[in-house]
Amino acid sequence: MDNVVSSVEELRALQLDRMRWSLAHAYANVPHYRAAFDAAGVHPDDVRELADLARFPFTAKADLRDNYPFGMFAVPREQVSRIHASSGTTGRPTVVGYTREDIDTWAEVMARSIEAAGGRPGDMVHIAYGYGLFTGGMGAHYGAERLGCTVVPVSGGMTERQVQLIRDFEPRVIMVTPSYFLAILDEMEAQGIDPKDTSLEIGIFGAEPWTQQMREEVERRSNLRAVDIYGLSEVMGPGVSQESGQTQDGLHIWEDHFYPEVVDPVTGEVLPDGEEGELVFTSLTKQAMPVVRYRTRDLTTLMPGTAHPQFRRMAKVTGRTDDMMIVRGVNVFPSQIEEQLLAVEGLTPHYLCVLTRPGRMDELTVQVEAASASSSEQERAGMARALATRVKDRVGVTVAVEVLAPHALERSLGKAKRISDQRHLR
Ligand code: DLL
Repeated sequence: MDNVVSSVEELRALQLDRMRWSLAHAYANVPHYRAAFDAAGVHPDDVRELADLARFPFTAKADLRDNYPFGMFAVPREQVSRIHASSGTTGRPTVVGYTREDIDTWAEVMARSIEAAGGRPGDMVHIAYGYGLFTGGMGAHYGAERLGCTVVPVSGGMTERQVQLIRDFEPRVIMVTPSYFLAILDEMEAQGIDPKDTSLEIGIFGAEPWTQQMREEVERRSNLRAVDIYGLSEVMGPGVSQESGQTQDGLHIWEDHFYPEVVDPVTGEVLPDGEEGELVFTSLTKQAMPVVRYRTRDLTTLMPGTAHPQFRRMAKVTGRTDDMMIVRGVNVFPSQIEEQLLAVEGLTPHYLCVLTRPGRMDELTVQVEAASASSSEQERAGMARALATRVKDRVGVTVAVEVLAPHALERSLGKAKRISDQRHLR
C-alpha cells in the first residue's frame, strides 16, 4: 500500500498534476465552478504550485443545496453509476454522485483504510454502519471486499441480532459508529456475554466525533483495538483518512486523492500545519462530482505522517463549528463534556447536551445515566455534583447535570445526537 507514492516529494508532484486536472475538470463541466472561479478572477491554469490553490474560492454545503439535485455533477447523468445523499438539519439532502471509476477509487482508499487499521485479507468483517443513501455501509462494504475480506453486511439496528451474529460468525473486525458500538456492548452485557470473550480484535469507528477517553472506555470493556476513520459524503464517504492500528495517533489522510488545507474558520486564511482550524478538502481524482476547497466545518490540526510517513495526519476531530455551543460566552463542544463524563465513576458513556433559554441566558443541562439501577438518590446526586465540578473546573462553564436511570437515554443506531436545542421552546 505504501508504494502508492514512496516519498513526500513524489506525492507533492502527483498532487500538483492531479490538482490541475481536477480544477480544469470542474471549471469546464460544472457551471457553478465556472461562475465562482470567474467571479474570483482565477483560472485553473494559474496553478503553478500547490499553494496557489488558496486563491480559489471555497465551496460550502449551501452551494450543493443550491444546485440540488445534480447541478454539481461534472459528467452526464448516464455516467453516474451511484448516488448517495446525506440528510442535513434543514430541508434538502446533500446529493453526491460517483462514476464507476470513482467507486473503484473509493474501494481502494477504503481497503487501504481497513488495512491501516490492522485488517487483513481473509478477515471476517462485520459492518454495522447503515446501508442506503448514507455512505457508511456501502463504503465500508466495497473496501472490505476489495481487501479480500469476508463481509457481513448487517447494517445498523436489531441490536440483539448484531450480538448473535458476532457470536456465531466470529468476525475479527467490526465497522460501526462508536455510539452504536456502545449499544452493542450494553446488549452483550445484558445477555451475560463478556465482550472480552468475543472474537473481535479491531473496531473501525467513525462518522461522528469520539474522544480519547471513549477509546479507553471501549478498549477496557471489550479488549479490541479502537481506531478512528473519517470521511464525508461530499468528498467521498468513509476512507478520506484513517488512523493506524499500530500507532493510534491521529488519522493519515490519503492525500493522493484528497488534498487537505486547514483554514481559520472566521477569516478563511490558510493556517500552517500544526495550527487548529477548519478542515477544507479539494478532490484530486473524482470524476462525477469534483469538490474544490470544500469547507467541512470539522475542526482539526494537520501533522506530519508517522505510520505512513508520506501522508500527513489530521488530529482526531474535536467537533464541528456548527456543534459549538456558546454557554454564557464560553465555547463548549459535546466532546469536552464526554471527556469529563467518562472520568466520573458510576455513569454510563451515554449523554445528551440540552440547551434551554429560561430567561435571557442560555443554560446547558447534561443528561447522563447511572450505570446501576440500584444506585440511591444520594449517590446520583453525588455523581451529578462530581460531573458539574469537573466541567466547571476543566471546561470553564457552569452546567446542570441530570442523572437518569440506566437506559433512559435513546440509543443511536448510527450517528448519535449529542445536542438537543430547546431554546426556541417556551
Ligand atoms: O459520516 C462518512 C463516514 C461513514 C465516515 C462511516 C466514517 C465512517 P457524512 O454522513 O457525510 O459522512 O458525515 C460527514 O461526519 O463532516 C464529520 O463532521 C463527521 N465525521 C465523520 N467521521 C468522523 C470522525 C460520513 N471519525 C461528517 N470523527 C463529517 C469525527 C466524523 N467526526
